[in-house]
Amino acid sequence: MQGIELHAIDLMKRAGKYIRQMIDHAYHIEEKTNKSDLVTEIDKNVEDLLIEGILNQYPDHHIYGEEGRAARPETLGGTIWFVDPIDGTMNFIRQKRHFAISIAIMVEGELKYGFVYDVMADEMFHSIKGLGAYENGIRLAPIEEKPVREAIICMNATWVTANRRIDAALLAPLVRDAVGVRAIGAASLELAWVAAGRVDGYITMRNMPWDYAAGQMLIEELGGRVGTIEGDAMTFQEQTSVLAGSRTFVADVLTYVNK
Ligand code: IPD
Ligand code: CA
Ligand code: CA
Ligand code: CA
Repeated sequence: MQGIELHAIDLMKRAGKYIRQMIDHAYHIEEKTNKSDLVTEIDKNVEDLLIEGILNQYPDHHIYGEEGRAARPETLGGTIWFVDPIDGTMNFIRQKRHFAISIAIMVEGELKYGFVYDVMADEMFHSIKGLGAYENGIRLAPIEEKPVREAIICMNATWVTANRRIDAALLAPLVRDAVGVRAIGAASLELAWVAAGRVDGYITMRNMPWDYAAGQMLIEELGGRVGTIEGDAMTFQEQTSVLAGSRTFVADVLTYVNK
């Protein structure tokens, strides 16, 4: 490894150390849009730390961060870092585990690097375009082809109860047919777990680019697929659905949804 990926990993590990130091301290918590959508001063401080570390080294790069602490780029031109300082803020506050720092680097519209760091487990997942995906430096195997009936699916129960984004009756049969369903509560980690073969698919109706871009890189480097629930490619612009897993899993889910 060299250059930008080492810099990213070093920064994320430093940020992780800061989070572990602060996790048992009292810190300020705010509601953003509702009681499930929280941000803490730690999220903001971590984003600041990451931005400073990126721009010190790469002053002409752009940062698209969840907490908006750096000016957001208007186009996908140049080099963009998609940054989620704490993915799974609710888990960070309530469970003190199962949250991640998620960073993806895109160059001229193409994803080149993806990093998901499970801070409490000290597990670093990273991938480099064309060079595979790794867990703590050990190369991950290609994603196994599994249809829904052989799969463990990561999906929040929200999407099989009445909601504003999808007819719950479309996704409920997946719960019936799958081997099991899990909800971890941190999108980037759920995608990293697909990459690591711990689960076989991830489905959500509501992610932002900083939630999915890093995990997408990991999965695609292992032969998997990441797109929308309509079967379209990601646009890295606004809120989107995400359907991720092996080619077989994704094709199978699309037959359920497009009945
Ligand atoms: C959230 C988590 C959650 C997912 C939400 C995300 P945050 O990120 O990844 O699992 O369902 O869509 O917004 O707000 O904790 O960074
Ligand atoms: Ca958030
Ligand atoms: Ca997030
Ligand atoms: Ca976040």
